[in-house]
Amino acid sequence: IQPKNFVKTVLSWQAAHGRHQLPWQHPATPYRVLVSEIMLQQTQVATVIPYFERWMTRFPTLQSLADASEDEVMALWQGLGYYSRARNLQKAARFLVDTYNGEFPQELTDIQSIPGVGRYTAGAIKSFAYDEYGPIVDGNVRRLFCRLFGVEGVPSTSKVDKALWQLAEDYTPNQNNRRFAQGLLDLGATLCTARNPKCTECPFADHCVALHTGRVSELPTAKPK
Ligand code: ADE
Repeated sequence: IQPKNFVKTVLSWQAAHGRHQLPWQHPATPYRVLVSEIMLQQTQVATVIPYFERWMTRFPTLQSLADASEDEVMALWQGLGYYSRARNLQKAARFLVDTYNGEFPQELTDIQSIPGVGRYTAGAIKSFAYDEYGPIVDGNVRRLFCRLFGVEGVPSTSKVDKALWQLAEDYTPNQNNRRFAQGLLDLGATLCTARNPKCTECPFADHCVALHTGRVSELPTAKPK
């Protein structure tokens, strides 16, 4: 499938079947996107929503988060797990207040210099908050790409990782990035799932290498035990 056709298909699927009422989408400020993406790293959407709402009520701005006590930050995170994420978020807020006067940078490389922000989160902020070109590869995108393009090999190895990011760069559009990125994640989360993917409902069924070669359950390649 060619990039143009891929983008068109993601966008029209997203309009009809994607998620449009997630709290961090309204409004999708860089700070709100950062907080939601960090919370979503190891936690399901449904679990994150009430934590996100409480967090935003208590820490509506980077400055309020930077000024908070660590105890209060940790108390709000209680129950979400992976507590280093909460400490990192406060670190990020203090970094942004100190380095950028509490404003959010817009360049991908500057966004990636924020503590705790890697390539995925930086791309997500570019796409969701700025509606600009920002390639993203997370677990959802990885699964979708490995199957659609028939990418072989274990995804966490550097060679496969490189191939997946190259695909993400080549298949990310220069407009409608907010809707595109949401569509990509929603496709991976709701259709192209790890187990029992809904291939009959997938808009890429005609183009999917894994589906056509009977390897949907073998891709992405599992890590050797
Ligand atoms: N997982 C990571 N980011 C997400 C988003 N913006 N919407 C839904 N699931 C996500």
